[in-house]
Amino acid sequence: MTLAIIKPDAFGSGKAGKVLAVLDEAGFAIRGARVLRLGRAAAEAFYVVHRERPFFGSLVEFMTSGPCMALALDHERAVPYLREVIGATDPAEAAPGTVRALYAESKERNAIHGSDSDENARRELGFFFGEVDLISTG
Ligand code: RTP
Ligand code: MG
Repeated sequence: MTLAIIKPDAFGSGKAGKVLAVLDEAGFAIRGARVLRLGRAAAEAFYVVHRERPFFGSLVEFMTSGPCMALALDHERAVPYLREVIGATDPAEAAPGTVRALYAESKERNAIHGSDSDENARRELGFFFGEVDLISTG
């Protein structure tokens, strides 16, 4: 299982349904979904690995700027496959047909997040979902 976030740019411009359609078409099963607005402390905690990066402050501003949608997604290769389906961080470099090529506005306002390792997926799923929130496989 892996974590995706439909980020505030895509959610706020009414693209959540289109992004979900791409994920559905790709074969992911949705095990959990939440719409929420991150507060500053939550966004800083979620992106703590980036706290020394020059874009950290701007990223936190962006991620707290409006509601987003957190998704628990299942697939037999969930983590690497989601990274393929969302495309490169910068939409200018994202492969055609990927979520970011289709819907991202810029390298920062890039429509979607996907966990980058199994370890981070576990941490990030736990950030948004409790065990009781996740539908079991089947
Ligand atoms: P994500 O974590 O959101 O799935 O994205 P990613 O792995 O492709 O990119 P990462 O390096 O983890 O960066 C996290 C998010 O920070 C913003 N960013 N802005 N202005 C910039 O140069 C820059 N670089 C990264 C993006 O929103 C990126 O997704
Ligand atoms: Mg990342």
